[in-house]
Amino acid sequence: MASEPLYVTTPLFYVNAEPHLGHTYATLLGDVLARFWRARGRSVFTLTGTDEHGDKIAQAAAAAGVEPKVHADRVSGLFRATWEEMDFRYDHFIRTTDPYHVAFVRHVLDRIHTQGDIYFGSYRGLYCVGCERFYQERELVDGRCPDHRVAPTEIAEENYFFRMQAYQERLLAALEAEPDRITPDGYRREVLALLREPIGDLCISRPKSRLSWGIELPFDARYVTYVWFDALLNYVSALDHLGRIDLWPTAHHLIGKDILKAHAIFWPTMLMAAGLPLYRRLCVTGHWQMQQGKMSKSLGNVVRPLDMKARYGADAFRYYLLRDMAFGQDAEFSETALVTRLNADLANSLGNLASRVLAMQQRYFQGILQPLAPVAQDIALRAAFATARQTLDGHVAELAFHRALEALWRALDHANRYVVETAPFTLAKDPAQRPRVGAILHELCEALRITAQLAEPFLPETARRLTALLGLPATRLAELDLPWGEAFPSGHRTAPPEPLFPRVEVVPE
Ligand code: MSP
Repeated sequence: MASEPLYVTTPLFYVNAEPHLGHTYATLLGDVLARFWRARGRSVFTLTGTDEHGDKIAQAAAAAGVEPKVHADRVSGLFRATWEEMDFRYDHFIRTTDPYHVAFVRHVLDRIHTQGDIYFGSYRGLYCVGCERFYQERELVDGRCPDHRVAPTEIAEENYFFRMQAYQERLLAALEAEPDRITPDGYRREVLALLREPIGDLCISRPKSRLSWGIELPFDARYVTYVWFDALLNYVSALDHLGRIDLWPTAHHLIGKDILKAHAIFWPTMLMAAGLPLYRRLCVTGHWQMQQGKMSKSLGNVVRPLDMKARYGADAFRYYLLRDMAFGQDAEFSETALVTRLNADLANSLGNLASRVLAMQQRYFQGILQPLAPVAQDIALRAAFATARQTLDGHVAELAFHRALEALWRALDHANRYVVETAPFTLAKDPAQRPRVGAILHELCEALRITAQLAEPFLPETARRLTALLGLPATRLAELDLPWGEAFPSGHRTAPPEPLFPRVEVVPE
């Protein structure tokens, strides 16, 4: 439904590490969705930001020898600067240390406490600082956290608990009744399985004697709030702060599979307790795996987005991430695969097509566009792009970005075949065929214009450059519904070709 507004969120990134591939992927998807739906007339609001409290950050700051807030300021700034460099757009950037967020968390805690959903008790449990959560014995693999592969720390202390279990049945019923609340379905089934076992209550405090870097509980100054209880509320606190709470029921959360439990169990039960409706949809991505296993500083295999941009250009990096991962599944990150995509799909299929068309335009017509005179082959080319648009739209609605790109590249393959089959370079030798050559090139310029528009959410820089090479003003890029044949005024001139994507021959591996 193009008319319903859309609220898209990324996870809030921990400020213990600099922006890497995992953070980049989630933020990229938010950017793609926003650009895509805006181009189709839908109003979109996107939120991203940083998660700044808790053990993990306190430890990172201590290691850096600075106060937690100083450390958080630095790394949070780094995230913002990186997204800016990557040209990832968002409407608001939230930090969990922002005073409005702190006040909101305290307000919700007060409300839930007053209504009897928070109690005091003693607890003994196994805690993983990497995940910032307690683990049940049966969730561990060989006694270790399945994600961080380290044995959790045993912690015994008195704490406050949220009556999460009281909402278990309601949540189970909601998820059973609404098959698209969590997508892809495999993750929904994983959550349903968890909900068929007792989920227990959620420990939502940390004694200041052990950890002081957090939001103080409004009803007991000896404690700070558990970092997940604090961070999850950002999705609502930001809207409340901006006076856009009306958007809340349209929320689509983009998250990685490692934080599924927090978003599919902690968060909805918190919302129920706070008297708020559930989010609209939880969209769960798989992980980028590295050949050497998990991406980590110690293995020295951390992929930094700005390095990738410097080496291959932002759009080639975007294209690879979107084309080589099926939404929801894991994929292996490899620069060799990135370069293969860059050379085959971007430099060859798209780049060569654009250069050939623009070069012929120059050579035969000094760039001046000639009249159309459609024959069957031309109509088939138009149909291929109409199909691409329809198919692409359907796939993006299902978050199948790789299929969306595949659909557009099928049309580009068609356009490349069309060049071979209509052979304007051969026809050009016969002066009598000049009008046909001009018409063929005009058809191809239309194909390139539509390509720029359809590709814009995925490859924004390429779309801008292609539009400029076609000699069109930037505003034309937004006119998605402009009919084929009506984009170029008579006497229009296209620019001389420039390579869109230089081929890359050497892969630093
Ligand atoms: N701060 C929490 C989220 C709180 S949301 C209220 C957190 N932060 S994180 O910085 O560790 O991770 C942020 C996101 O990056 C998660 O969605 C995680 O899945 C994603 N990724 C981290 N490494 C990843 C890959 N290698 N591949 C894809 N995404 C992964 O968790």
